[in-house]
Amino acid sequence: MGMIFSFTAIYRKIRLWQLRKAGLIIGDDCKMVKLPAFGSEPYLITIGHHVGFAEGVAFITHDGGTAVFRHLERYKKVIKYGRITILDNCIIGARVIILPGVTIGPNSVVAAGSVVTRNVPPGVLASGNPAKPIMTFYQYAEWSLAATPDYNEDDYRKNKREFLMNFNMRGSSSGRAKQGEQDKASGPIPE
Ligand SMILES: CC(C)(COP(=O)(O)OP(=O)(O)OC[C@H]1O[C@@H](n2cnc3c(N)ncnc32)[C@H](O)[C@@H]1OP(=O)(O)O)[C@@H](O)C(=O)NCCC(=O)NCCS
Repeated sequence: MGMIFSFTAIYRKIRLWQLRKAGLIIGDDCKMVKLPAFGSEPYLITIGHHVGFAEGVAFITHDGGTAVFRHLERYKKVIKYGRITILDNCIIGARVIILPGVTIGPNSVVAAGSVVTRNVPPGVLASGNPAKPIMTFYQYAEWSLAATPDYNEDDYRKNKREFLMNFNMRGSSSGRAKQGEQDKASGPIPE
């Protein structure tokens, strides 16, 4: 297990080094459950500091669909590429697809399985296809806190498996959001 882990870590380091050489810009303290698919133009991708990626994230920096008409004389010069920028302190959920020309964040979360077609503003949780802001950073943080029951941190750290087998959240963000129909616009981020 340890051996497999270290092979994976070495592979990832080498691959990230190659991607940086190929022009990918990625800041410090970025975490990846699995290495995202950075696509064929990694030099069009800029990632800030403290950005987290769940597994299976895909960056798409070009529109390959144009191949369907480029053999026709009129359209033979059509090319469509776009930069992707993820600003500091963002989390990109599992299996998210990020399309060309978008900026995400800072301080934003993209929910699992979302397709990001337009900019995700600062300080929001965005979800869906196409991904849209559904709550602010503060709402997400506050309601996540409210959904967390009181528990003993030592029990969680020492025996995570047994602890989680008996763990239940108090509810979800959506249930709380409906109570007050809060403003879903971008909000300021605390110090
Ligand atoms: C987005 C997320 C953070 C929301 O969790 P939550 O705070 O418990 O929120 P809820 O489950 O109450 O969902 C809030 C609303 O968003 C919707 N929603 C939640 N997750 C969604 C998703 N991935 N895609 C689309 N909509 C989503 C819910 O249906 C709900 O909508 P409603 O108000 O119309 O009922 C969570 O679902 C998520 O996707 N997190 C990332 C998970 C991940 O990638 N984990 C890997 C970690 S390494």
